[in-house]
Amino acid sequence: MDKIQTYWKESFLELVQLCKIKKDEKIIVLTETISRKINFQLLEAALKQSDLTFTHIDIPTKPYKLEPIIKSTGASNILDGENQFISKLKKSDIIFDLSKEGLMHSKQTKEILSNGTRIMTISDEHPEILSRLKPEKKLKNLVKDAVSKCRNASYMRITSDAGTDLKINMKKTNTVGVWGWTDRPGTLAHWPGGLVVSFPNSSCVNGRLVFQSGDINLTFKKYFDTEVSFDIENDFITKISGNGSDKKLIEKYLNSFGDKNAYATSHVGWGLNNKSRYEALTMYDKSDLNGTELRALSGCFLYSIGANEFANRYTDGHFDLPMMDCTIYLDDEMVVNKGEVI
Ligand SMILES: [Fe+2]
Repeated sequence: MDKIQTYWKESFLELVQLCKIKKDEKIIVLTETISRKINFQLLEAALKQSDLTFTHIDIPTKPYKLEPIIKSTGASNILDGENQFISKLKKSDIIFDLSKEGLMHSKQTKEILSNGTRIMTISDEHPEILSRLKPEKKLKNLVKDAVSKCRNASYMRITSDAGTDLKINMKKTNTVGVWGWTDRPGTLAHWPGGLVVSFPNSSCVNGRLVFQSGDINLTFKKYFDTEVSFDIENDFITKISGNGSDKKLIEKYLNSFGDKNAYATSHVGWGLNNKSRYEALTMYDKSDLNGTELRALSGCFLYSIGANEFANRYTDGHFDLPMMDCTIYLDDEMVVNKGEVI
């Protein structure tokens, strides 16, 4: 394990301070067997330094029952069947979530949040990445502004020179913002943060997406090498086109779920974090990063396939696919111009 660095500790301390935890609040630190030990140690040190005590719940990592390899879903399965732990979590005020996949889309998350508990997910990244993207106060306003624009819009349209032209009905869409920490009961945040995420209701997404070489597939943790396009009708990919290995990988993987919902839209949005680095995937070993920084990459259009509880669709597969150089409109207002946030 790496030796703890002072500047790593400082960024964990900043996170804890921004969560504004009161002395009488119940804190749970949630880990699983394969959680990154150094992040637990850094959090432990930050809580101690803040004079805060916590309960540690460590759950054995569970295998997935499916045959396809499951990665980067944001839907940890560690709480499945763990009713005793779930009721403990519901009685807490704040959970620091250090599970490998994160609790963002887990089955139990809604129930935990509805009890007023807040969840602070620390993405499974090397602390070098977390400290480079330490929580920044200015992100909060940027994200909040984008969220209110999305909530007030009737539609979102995404275009690109490569041929992308996608339209989303925003009237029936739920939007959330993540700026990297949470001090409000009943909310979830993840670190790194800096993005706006909308979950369209059913039959809201139509058009075509054209992925170019240099766009990103965070499930496979790789940049596209070859062009792939999706035709999307009423949320579902109806056709995947392309001649290269990226098309083959995506098609085979989606097919392996044997589930129609694996082809449907999960969420759409864009990144707002200027500290996120496009080259991040080339700089770290795959096991050292979860890629959350690239979901928040400033000006990327983030399109995701998989479960979407607002559209009543559940499935185990999940793709987060940041696209570069797209233009995003909310009604007639351009909010991103060819990959640059306006
Ligand atoms: Fe996602």
